[in-house]
Amino acid sequence: MCGIVGLIGLENVTEGLVNGLSHLEYRGYDSAGVYVDTPGAMSFTVKTKGRINDLREEIEKTGDVTGFRGIGHTRWATHGKPKTENAHPHTSYNGRFVLVHNGVIENFKEIKDNYINDEWLQGETDTEMIVHLVAKIAEEENLSAKDAFKKALTIVEGSYAFALADKEEPEVLYVAKNKSPLLVASGEDFNGVCSDALALIELTNQFVEINDKEMVTVTKEGIMIEDLAGQVQERKAIEFSITANDLALGTYEHYMLKEIEEQPAVMRNILAHYVNEDDEVVVDDEIVEAFSKADRVYIIACGTSWNAGLVGKTIIETLAGIPTEVHLASEFGYNTPLLSEKPFFIYLSQSGETADSRQVLVKTNKLGYPALTVTNVAGSTLSREANYTMLLHAGPEIAVASTKAYTAQIAVLSILASVTGKNKGIEVAQNFDVKQELSLVANNMDSLLTDENKFPSLVHNLLAETRNAFYIGRGTDYSVSLEASLKLKEISYIQCEGFASGELKHGTIALIEEGTPVIALITADHTNLQTRSNIQEVKSRGAKTCIISMEDVAQEGDDVVLPHVHPLYTALVSVLPTQLIAYYATLERGLDVDKPRNLAKSVTVE
Ligand code: F6R
Repeated sequence: MCGIVGLIGLENVTEGLVNGLSHLEYRGYDSAGVYVDTPGAMSFTVKTKGRINDLREEIEKTGDVTGFRGIGHTRWATHGKPKTENAHPHTSYNGRFVLVHNGVIENFKEIKDNYINDEWLQGETDTEMIVHLVAKIAEEENLSAKDAFKKALTIVEGSYAFALADKEEPEVLYVAKNKSPLLVASGEDFNGVCSDALALIELTNQFVEINDKEMVTVTKEGIMIEDLAGQVQERKAIEFSITANDLALGTYEHYMLKEIEEQPAVMRNILAHYVNEDDEVVVDDEIVEAFSKADRVYIIACGTSWNAGLVGKTIIETLAGIPTEVHLASEFGYNTPLLSEKPFFIYLSQSGETADSRQVLVKTNKLGYPALTVTNVAGSTLSREANYTMLLHAGPEIAVASTKAYTAQIAVLSILASVTGKNKGIEVAQNFDVKQELSLVANNMDSLLTDENKFPSLVHNLLAETRNAFYIGRGTDYSVSLEASLKLKEISYIQCEGFASGELKHGTIALIEEGTPVIALITADHTNLQTRSNIQEVKSRGAKTCIISMEDVAQEGDDVVLPHVHPLYTALVSVLPTQLIAYYATLERGLDVDKPRNLAKSVTVE
């Protein structure tokens, strides 16, 4: 949550900062701001409630906001409402220091009580305490900005990526990190900092990773990384492979639709990355060995990734023969179940930054259990802190509602399960040809998407007026129902529940009334008739129904017929219509598809 960016050394950093913030908007979009200055010239702080476009307007109104150095922020409110006073950057009581922050200061109350004068405070954020704290330490102890910042960092507890500007040292930016993501961008004749490489990828593809409890001095000429004890750390920049093109919307109106339509290509890309020159599907030997030794797999994830984990569980149990549990990260860390003797942890996370998942990883690392992160972001925190990583190779996912990461996670887990199962001599795995089955999925996703223009009218007839809806299914269809309902509610704000179809009659059927939309997913023969009777039960109570079925079990009158894929892969195609339903329901309501209210893409607070 929240994105920070900083630049130093360009003739004018303002456009780079604002453009960078627009690429970080997925991290939060309820207020934004920038600070820019030039040695010996004017400085500017512009901030506003609202989005980056609102910030642009404010900058235009202010006029001539130019500078050699600057920092910027886009916010997802944690402490304090979204309003201009709470927008970053924050300035210290004496006007000397300016600070942006991503994270949560856990001991902000203690800092406030012990160090801060109430009349210094302009808003209600935890961040504001820190800029005053640095100023107070510098003033009272007569310390340089760097030493005061370092001392403040020894007092601060919590998660942070800070960028600090001292008006008395206009040719330096100070940054520090703990638990929140931070990269230093290394350019020709300039340097920068950002929460995600996407922010500055149009300026450079060279980034230096910063570890927790490190502080960096950034100037136009170079960077110096130190730990809090002052020990200098040498680290080279890494070339990031994302390109500015990955961020382009092209002819699409929304990232969500672009990302839905990218899914066939993502399936092919995953195969390209996990197939070797000998045309064999391969996974790092060390991962397969550690995974094979497990007597139980624990998948830890949140939201859509958790939903993908549910599908992954069936695939792992079937192909690799290892019992698998799927846990919500926010529950597992604080209500840990009895663990098996040889557990293996899989952290499923598109962003690789989710704080709920990370707190579990920190705990399982302490216990010495092997951990694999399956993520879309190379070098992300969860990836760096786990023993092993498997990448999704889905390309940046920008829309807040996750689509291609869901299918990519299932595909990558299936590759792991299938290679492991084959290795263990499990017959089902030996008979399962991942390459062929995933290629078929990709082709069938293509053909489903060519039929996309039927969805606006389907959605209009089914969901136009409704405040609530249901998705139902059994087995994997139930797992997909959970994802389908999450997608619909998070962007269209229709209250939607994913339900095991047989369970409705045990209570929830009381909610069905004249016109309640119920969408059923039916992809398996052995549950086809049961789910169809459940549809009859709701229909006879007035529900407006819609059936999405796989061609093998389809009946006349079904609304969407999915092309056949392997039974382990039905989720990969059945989820597509549900993503399109969510997309078109949101468009029809005139809502913001890519940036739904109250959300942020990367949830870096618990
Ligand atoms: C919903 C969505 C979220 C994320 C969840 C976990 O569309 O995107 O539910 O799936 O916040 O995020 P990651 O996968 O980055 O850990």
